Amino acid sequence: MTTYAAILAGGIGNRMHSATIPKQFLQLGDRPIIIWTIQKILGSHAFDYVYIAIHPEWKDYLQELLEKWDICEPNLTIVSGGKERLDSIENVIDAICDSHTVETEDKILIHDAVRPFITNQIISDSLEALNRHPAVVAAIPATDTMLWIESDDRVDSMPDRSKLYNGQAPDSFRLQVLAKSIRELTPRQRRVITGTAQICLLDGIPIHTVPGDPINIKLTSDSDMLIAEGLIRRDMGETAEDKNE
Ligand code: CTP
Repeated sequence: MTTYAAILAGGIGNRMHSATIPKQFLQLGDRPIIIWTIQKILGSHAFDYVYIAIHPEWKDYLQELLEKWDICEPNLTIVSGGKERLDSIENVIDAICDSHTVETEDKILIHDAVRPFITNQIISDSLEALNRHPAVVAAIPATDTMLWIESDDRVDSMPDRSKLYNGQAPDSFRLQVLAKSIRELTPRQRRVITGTAQICLLDGIPIHTVPGDPINIKLTSDSDMLIAEGLIRRDMGETAEDKNE
């Protein structure tokens, strides 16, 4: 059984208005966001192979960062990201299938480069759940009141919050199942997909959840960076403690 991780960094972060570079390269504490994420994934020691999908124009820059931060794992592969997030996922899967023989039990965990607060617990829960389920997503119970609004600003209904969850990343799959579901997507389905697990859901594959973490936030807009700056101080403290041991 082989376990893969895919780190998606093929986007350019349009909604992070203050950024002049793709948001995954923004500095968070003492290092770029993407370096935090890569180090968390590698530091979990849960994966045989790690793939990073990067925007083609930023490949050289990523290589420079990996060298600067002394990340030279032989099992780390960089591939080009695609136009949409789904295309980036597909590029990783194609790269894996081109260079490995995929077995039924093989697993893949797909994570966003812009979620640097992923925990070892989420990783191990996700991979463990794949022993029982074909597809799992990290999720947390919704905490805000949910409003269903069809148009303008008028509230049509308030869905029962106890049944609502926020889907985070990572999304994890038996690799063969995901590869098949992606191949079978119709052009229309490709257009409507917003979450990774949806790829399988549209193919009738059941999705199960594992507990996410409220701290496992996605850095989407400038306000997320303010929260992240606060959270990263804790991680930097842990890194300093590791060095002192
Ligand atoms: N992503 C990707 N390939 C794409 C688009 C997105 O690999 N073609 C990655 C992003 O780099 C990010 C993750 O998917 O790590 C989550 O996507 P999102 O937050 O939407 O990132 P962006 O597309 O970069 O942001 P925006 O939508 O604001 O432009």
